[in-house]
Amino acid sequence: MAPYSIRKYQDQDKEAVMDMFIKGTLSHIPSGFFRLLKQPRSFLLLLSVPGALFLGSGSLFLSLLVLPGLLVFLWLLTRYPFNWYVDNALRTDMKDIRKSYLSNRGSCFWVAELEGHVVGMVCACPAQQASRGQKCLEMLHLSVRTEYRGLGIAKSLTQTLLQFAQDQGYDAVVLTTLCYNYPAQRIYEQLGFWKAREAFDSLKWRVIGIPFFYYKYSVPSSL
Ligand SMILES: CC(C)(COP(=O)(O)OP(=O)(O)OC[C@H]1O[C@@H](n2cnc3c(N)ncnc32)[C@H](O)[C@@H]1OP(=O)(O)O)[C@@H](O)C(=O)NCCC(=O)NCCS
Repeated sequence: MAPYSIRKYQDQDKEAVMDMFIKGTLSHIPSGFFRLLKQPRSFLLLLSVPGALFLGSGSLFLSLLVLPGLLVFLWLLTRYPFNWYVDNALRTDMKDIRKSYLSNRGSCFWVAELEGHVVGMVCACPAQQASRGQKCLEMLHLSVRTEYRGLGIAKSLTQTLLQFAQDQGYDAVVLTTLCYNYPAQRIYEQLGFWKAREAFDSLKWRVIGIPFFYYKYSVPSSL
């Protein structure tokens, strides 16, 4: 396979970047659904509703009939925060990538290109919440097309971003990732990020029991 290169985003990359961002984010829904199913409250729901129906109606058929409906409900409940995240990004930072990430020196958007195709992406902008007076860069939207995973592309994109953080005089790089995104966590930890905290990003995520890990990287020059 030909080597890939990493360069700044160009307007003609938009379609490939959007596709990768949406598919990469939504690909986490099935694992999120199975995590939700394994939670005691889901067991309780899946047992108590058919149980109550059986006690009320005496019909085993009717009580079993409600199970697929409950599963569909839990699936839709899981999908909601992921879809919300994508829609929100498409309305805000991803609406105009050039304006959001390439119009000031403290932000950037990179893509990985292989054999003429855009196969990876990552971007960064100044973090909105300052951390103890530190100048922090927030890393966002790391994604690699499925067929090109495992080639070190995400690692290279992250390394490019860390170099940018150093060149721009940032003190730290911060990011948020799903608690069960082990491939991403492995990359971050290999590159020197550490888990600063764990929390539910909002009520939407709390409802489905999926917390986020907040990672931080101290830029070497500021040590
Ligand atoms: C997470 C993601 C970006 C990784 O991309 P990638 O290009 O395959 O990652 P890399 O090839 O750079 O992998 C770097 C390291 O992670 C490991 N890794 C990658 N995928 C892995 C997997 N599925 N399971 C275990 N380890 C994995 C690799 O083994 C490698 O470690 P090594 O250097 O010791 O061999 C990719 O899976 C993806 O796009 N996922 C969907 C979007 C997403 O979750 N983004 C992260 C948002 S926080």
